[in-house]
Amino acid sequence: MGELLKPYVISNVGMSLDGKLATIDNDSRISGEEDLKRVHNIRKNVDGIMVGIGTILKDDPRLTVHKIDAKIGDNPIRIVIDSNLRIPLNARVLNKDAKTIIATTLKDTPNKIEKINKLKDMENVEIIRTGIEKVNLKKLMEILYKKGIKKILLEGGGTLNWGMFKENLVDEVSVYVAPKIFGGVGAPTYVDGEGFKTVDECVKLKLEKYYPFDEGIVLEFKVKK
Ligand SMILES: NC(=O)c1ccc[n+]([C@@H]2O[C@H](COP(=O)([O-])OP(=O)(O)OC[C@H]3O[C@@H](n4cnc5c(N)ncnc54)[C@H](OP(=O)(O)O)[C@@H]3O)[C@@H](O)[C@H]2O)c1
Repeated sequence: MGELLKPYVISNVGMSLDGKLATIDNDSRISGEEDLKRVHNIRKNVDGIMVGIGTILKDDPRLTVHKIDAKIGDNPIRIVIDSNLRIPLNARVLNKDAKTIIATTLKDTPNKIEKINKLKDMENVEIIRTGIEKVNLKKLMEILYKKGIKKILLEGGGTLNWGMFKENLVDEVSVYVAPKIFGGVGAPTYVDGEGFKTVDECVKLKLEKYYPFDEGIVLEFKVKK
């Protein structure tokens, strides 16, 4: 089997010291202005920004470069992972500021067919279908690479992060750790999902760089392959 030709994937989050991406009430005000600028600088230098549908439904992000000096052409392609096309047609990620790829499964339901037709009417939206129950992330990476998307910023949330780490699709990790503790067993963490059963199976990282930032610290790692 040949090597998987896939985009280089950088996983970035802002998290509390206890690894939470938001509080139990979904308050995700973790990063200050400086950290938001750091993330928007990474956005400006990638071909695509990827998030799960959970993040779209909870935060309604635009996923554009707007916290730093930028032109509309600096906006990367936005990629939403959404097996059942739960994306609202008025989601901000569907605005005209950039192209948006919605990755969904091959499984059809009457609602889904209707939604696909509505989304296809939007000129900046493209739909990619792969996988049956969930989006096949490995296949999606191959398809995106063939489309010229060579570098992706993965911006969560915890469920999609698990899917990407489990399939060994992440190459680099960059996290801002805020000096805050959120607690709460139900609060989303950096990587959720089923989790690895043993330390032998887990994803191993090599620490590359760390520096104090805003009120917290930025940690950068390469994923050991
Ligand atoms: N602090 C930060 O930096 C940051 C960044 C991003 C998000 N967040 C927070 O994270 C939370 C959202 O996280 P979340 O875990 O609920 O949602 P998520 O990771 O954004 O989206 C997960 C969803 O993606 C879909 N999916 C489809 N195929 C998948 C696959 N192969 N693997 C994994 N997921 C797949 C699934 O829904 P379907 O089956 O319906 O497709 C799944 O439920 C929010 O609270 C948000 O504020 C924080």
